[in-house]
Amino acid sequence: MSKSKILVTGAAGFIGSNLVEKLLLRKYDVIGVDNFNDYYDPKIKEENIISVLKKHNFKLYREDILNLNKLERIFRNEKIDVIVHLAARAGVRPSINKPKLYAKVNVLGTVNLLKLSVDYKVKRFIFGSSSSVYGNSKQLPFSESDPCDQIISPYGASKRSAEFFVESFHKSFDLNCTILRFFTVYGPRSRPDMAPAIFTKKIFNGETIQQYGDGLSSRDYTFVDDITNGIVLSLEKESGFEVINLGNNHPIVISDFIKMIEYVTGKKTKIIKLSKCAGDMENTWADIKKANRLLGWKPETDLKEGLKRYILWLRAN
Ligand SMILES: NC(=O)c1ccc[n+]([C@@H]2O[C@H](COP(=O)([O-])OP(=O)(O)OC[C@H]3O[C@@H](n4cnc5c(N)ncnc54)[C@H](O)[C@@H]3O)[C@@H](O)[C@H]2O)c1
Repeated sequence: MSKSKILVTGAAGFIGSNLVEKLLLRKYDVIGVDNFNDYYDPKIKEENIISVLKKHNFKLYREDILNLNKLERIFRNEKIDVIVHLAARAGVRPSINKPKLYAKVNVLGTVNLLKLSVDYKVKRFIFGSSSSVYGNSKQLPFSESDPCDQIISPYGASKRSAEFFVESFHKSFDLNCTILRFFTVYGPRSRPDMAPAIFTKKIFNGETIQQYGDGLSSRDYTFVDDITNGIVLSLEKESGFEVINLGNNHPIVISDFIKMIEYVTGKKTKIIKLSKCAGDMENTWADIKKANRLLGWKPETDLKEGLKRYILWLRAN
């Protein structure tokens, strides 16, 4: 039996490019969509995707998910079975100054893909959401049953709004949908605007780190391979509608995270403390019982091992 054809949006991004490689290894036919925007240097995205461009079971479309006509042409040309929708304006802090852009790409872009999924009878829609939807919820660890009524950033609001559309398309059109909420992902090709990449680079170069807040806020850093494993498991699983956390379930406070990078790199750093940024959550911590129960998923890479693998990759690149 031939394997499904998977459309991955955001295919040249950090998580997307890691996922595309994994899907190709598993012999799926993969269609990538990405507009290579300049949220960070597009050359990094070109590098992310270069190794798969010549694979016979991969095709890349350089299109914007906001362009419904161009998107529709892809759906007409390809018989898509499953969509993994990862294209988004990511990043909490920039969303404070560009809320309209985040709403447009993250909400309208998602609605375009949902609409085409129904029109072209896609079997399953997997949406890459975020721990940001929990905001400053006091109930830790964050569980999928949390009301998500404590959102504190336009980014979190855009992801939650997109989640509502995903759920409504399941209810109105019977589209099979899984919402995966990722928790601070790091590893090879880490997004350059995120703390793991910024801190590691600065520690390597002997530069001072700017730490926002008192260092006591915590993050549930999750290795990218664990995230892509969770995505693969969920696309292979029947589901009507589910919301599932994918996180490491071992949060660490920022000051200890910096110490761990120092330990793994063998270098010391200087820190200057700055006041907390708007939109930054206090803590993130994933309850992963549901991922384990429904997908048989659990994270396999602890933070120390993941940082070692990330740093090995950085040295080689
Ligand atoms: N990295 C994390 O820690 C994390 C955590 C939670 C959720 N997420 C979500 O996972 C997904 C992937 O995140 P990432 O860290 O790989 O980010 P990324 O920025 O590296 O990847 C996103 C990709 O989407 C593409 N894209 C953006 N807007 C587009 C548009 N209008 N049309 C077509 N392509 C477009 C970008 O060019 C980029 O290559 C995003 O939806 C993000 O919100 C990421």
